[in-house]
Parts: sequence; C-alpha cells; structure tokens
Amino acid sequence: MKTNFYNKSIEKYSITPNGVITSKSHSNIALIKYWGKHNNKIQIPLNSSISYSLGKVYTVTRLIYQEKKKKNNSSIRVFFSGKEKTSFLPKILKFFYRISFYCSYLRNFNFIIETSNTFPHSCGVASSASSMSALALCIMKMEKKLVPSLKEDFFFKKASFLARLGSGSACRSIYPGLVVWGHHQSIEGSNNLYAIPYPYEIHSIFTKIEDTILIIDDKPKKILSSKGHKLMNHHPYARERFKDANQNMNRLISILKRGEFQEFGELIEHEALTLHAMIMTSRPYFLWMKANTINVIHMVWDFRKQNNKNIYFTLDAGANVHLLYPIQEKTSIIKWIYSNLFFYCKKTIESFCL
Ligand code: DP6
Repeated sequence: MKTNFYNKSIEKYSITPNGVITSKSHSNIALIKYWGKHNNKIQIPLNSSISYSLGKVYTVTRLIYQEKKKKNNSSIRVFFSGKEKTSFLPKILKFFYRISFYCSYLRNFNFIIETSNTFPHSCGVASSASSMSALALCIMKMEKKLVPSLKEDFFFKKASFLARLGSGSACRSIYPGLVVWGHHQSIEGSNNLYAIPYPYEIHSIFTKIEDTILIIDDKPKKILSSKGHKLMNHHPYARERFKDANQNMNRLISILKRGEFQEFGELIEHEALTLHAMIMTSRPYFLWMKANTINVIHMVWDFRKQNNKNIYFTLDAGANVHLLYPIQEKTSIIKWIYSNLFFYCKKTIESFCL
C-alpha cells in the first residue's frame, strides 16, 4: 500500500514562532550501488541498492527556524563548520523546492542551517547522504511539533522520502544497519520512494563489520555523482549493469543468510569495480581512481592470498577505499593496514557498520 506524504491539514496546526531543531545522521557505504536514475522522474533509481550505515562518520545539523512576518519567499542561510557557505545554497534551495509540496508549512518560515561533519566533505565519503538525511530528520522533527500524533513509522518513512529528494543515497542514511532502497522483486516492501531496513535474516558475522576508510584523495570530486548518474541514460552497457545489480541483490540475500564472508567480499568488490567501470566507459568518460587506489587494491589482494584473511574493499564515487572485515579479525588486520597502507593515504577513518 502506498503511503501518502502530502498532508494539507498540517497547515492548520501551529508551533512556537522560533525554534532550533538538531539531528544527527550517519553516512553510508553501498554494497550494491545505486548508479543511474530515471530521466523524466525525480530521484527514482534504475536499480535497487543496499548499504551499511557507518559509525563515527556523521553529520550534525541544527535547523533554526523563525516565522516570517511577510508573505515573501523564505530566506535560507547555510553555515558549514561555523562559516557561511553560499556554495551549498543551490543544492539546499533545490531540496526545499522539491519538498515544498509535501511540507507546505515550510513556506511560513525563514531558516538558518548549521551543519558540521566528522569527515571531509566531497571526498568520496558520502557527505551528501548524511547531510541531506540529517536535514530531512530536522524537517520531520518540525513536522512532529506541528502534528504531535504523527506515528514513528510514518516519521521515518517520510524522512527517508524527503532525504531521497535531496540525494538518492541519503534516503538509506535514515536507518542504521543494512538498508535497501529501490524496488526489488525479492525484497518485500522495497520501493523507489523511500528506503527500508533490510527485512530478512542476517548471519551474525555480518552484524559486526569494521570499515577502515582510506582517504587517498581529500580534494572535492571533479565529477559530481548527480552528473555521473545522467551518463547512465545513454550508456552502452547500462541494461546489462541493471540486470547484474538485480542478480547481485538476489545473491546477497542468500549470502547474508548463510554467512559466507568470502562470497560477500567477492560480490562487493565486483560491485565496486563495476561502478568504476561504468564511469570509465561513459561518454564523456572519467577515472575516479588514483594511482594509490590501485596500489591499495593490489596490496589487499596479495595480503588476502598470502594470509587467508577476510578483508575486502569497496569504493564510492571517488578515489577513496573502504576496507571491510569482520570484527573477529580486527587486531591482525588493523595492524597490517597501519604498517602497510598508511603510506598510500592522506588520512584513515576507523569506522564500523552500524
Ligand atoms: C556511487 O546519492 O550521491 O555512492 O541522488 O544524485 O545525489 P544523487 O546521487 P548520490 O549517488 C550515490 C552513488 C554511489 C552509490 C550508492 O551510494 O549507492
């Protein structure tokens, strides 16, 4: 059954004219990647995706609202780590415009958005995911002030729905753990409008996964993912990619149940390399990997072969590498990472899958 996120009666309720709302939201790393969206629809993915939300890497957002005296357009100012960031405004304004139909009460207020991350933004660690989802949660908290009877299930569904309109992967950051977005025939409740917590059995090995993030390049990406998605619309291999992603989801459902870490690792590496292969074979083409991304990948492969360890990589839309391994193997793996891979990166972030 479809949920209706539009509620005109909200306008009848009122809240205090000024207020501050704070929310925190974690970044996520996709195991099966969302890459490509429908051309003529807003933020509808061309394949379903699944991610882990990540501990330690998050955004904290404060939404300061003030009721407007006049009926003019709302004013919105954005501050990042204490400094005003006009370069973030176009994305935020687009987001407010897209959600205005579902949150019509917003037009009665002016806003100041103060946000900060625990990690560098635009470097391949999904900052748009955590920031858009933190903002969507703030807006839902505002809606909850207006409609105190709002149910928890609706709160999170609509938060995910709104976050999606800011950035696709952001809709998955609303929940901890494994989260699915996009309709998949084998996953009940999965849909294109909002994400859902992964609903099936998960073997205990997949409930405590470490993620060491190697920041190989901390500069903003040269091609933004929003542009990259568009390149899938005329991509010569797009159909095969979507078929493959769909099959990978079926494989993953079975792997997650059986607890096969090696199969899991091979699947996520295949997904990561496919994502990069897609961007490398787009028109125009692009290469996100840096020399040290490749160096690290080979080091991981060699280490795994020689030591029989469960360490696998995945990549986002950038040069940085996420190394995933079970917590049981943390002591030896982390020691190896620091003595062998430190040299290739600008920074490391010791995260874990929530
Ligand atoms: C490679 O969610 O950043 O990280 O919807 O245009 O904001 P927009 O794109 P975005 O794309 C993320 C792509 C990815 C894979 C993933 O997280 O699933």
